[in-house]
Amino acid sequence: MSTRKTILSKAQLQKRVSELGAQISRDYSGKSLVLIGVLNGAFIFMADLARAIELEHVQVDFIRVSSYGKSSESSGEITLSKDVELDLEDKDVLLVEDIIDTGRTLAWLHHSFQQRKAASVRICTLIDKSERREVDIQPDYTGFVVAEGFLVGYGLDYAEDFRHFPEISHLELS
Ligand code: IMP
Ligand code: MG
Repeated sequence: MSTRKTILSKAQLQKRVSELGAQISRDYSGKSLVLIGVLNGAFIFMADLARAIELEHVQVDFIRVSSYGKSSESSGEITLSKDVELDLEDKDVLLVEDIIDTGRTLAWLHHSFQQRKAASVRICTLIDKSERREVDIQPDYTGFVVAEGFLVGYGLDYAEDFRHFPEISHLELS
């Protein structure tokens, strides 16, 4: 049995994503931005964020890593199961992630993208969950800081379920 308690409504998500889009548009003015979404969790955030960015040139690609297995406990192991296909040389890369928890996934990705001769590599996360941080990694753009709990919806899953909910909720398992 599980119960859900909404912590971020559709309207709150929409407002904050618009603000992030405006900030990114200002910061990358005149540049060639490449958004790289981290699958599967970032797919909804990425789709909304891309449409909130008002730049002439924005390319989009995805990467897939897994660090979680099928439960809410991190396995600690990161595997790359889909790489980017765009050429990133001299591009301004923005990694788009759903949530930072321990920080291991993004630290690993950030390091890996710095090897690829991109002009810059920055991080945008919808949620920064600070409670279990193990690696010192600071996102450049953060939607919301959430202290604790396991979250689902708006792309976030529990055992691949619940990604489709339009709001973000705390999941309580009993
Ligand atoms: P990290 O490597 O511990 O920072 O884990 C990051 C990944 O774990 C995220 O991309 C999510 O896929 C997953 N994750 C961490 N916390 C949550 C959560 O509260 N709900 C759903 N997925 C989570
Ligand atoms: Mg994820």
